[in-house]
Amino acid sequence: MSKQRVTRRQFLNYTLTGVGGFMAAGMLMPMVRFAVDPVLKHNAAGDYVVTKQKIDEITNEPVRVDFSFEQKDAWYTSEVTNTAWVYKDENGEIVALSPVCKHLGCTVDWNTDATHPEHFFCPCHNGLYTKDGVNVPGTPPAAPLDVYPYKDVDGYLALGKAEPRKGA
Ligand code: FES
Repeated sequence: MSKQRVTRRQFLNYTLTGVGGFMAAGMLMPMVRFAVDPVLKHNAAGDYVVTKQKIDEITNEPVRVDFSFEQKDAWYTSEVTNTAWVYKDENGEIVALSPVCKHLGCTVDWNTDATHPEHFFCPCHNGLYTKDGVNVPGTPPAAPLDVYPYKDVDGYLALGKAEPRKGA
């Protein structure tokens, strides 16, 4: 019967390789998890954000609704504040418009230009939009204001991601 003896040198080699491998795995695992984690997580983009605006308090006069949400950009999380201009149209349908001017991205305001009442006005280059967000021809903006999709969440207005008006 042949007995294979492990020499002291072999024993040390096996032990050091095992301990070294264990330590390397212990160091690498958190790094691998850190690198892969955001890719595997569910992308929350497109989710609706519930605002403090009660649906039944929305009238036909546009009101400014500010809302904030947490935005994750890979490993970086930040608090983002957005705004919508919200009102009910003549059919009682809610309209939620983005305030971002389609010319160069300034913020439009409702009814602030005395020469064009009942319009959205962009002070940067005198951009004008009608109440439904359509750009007035002859002013700098070349497209209507983006529109937020919305939902009623327990009586409160929830807004999705603003998107270009369909058919624009
Ligand atoms: S950015 Fe609004 S008109 Fe130019």
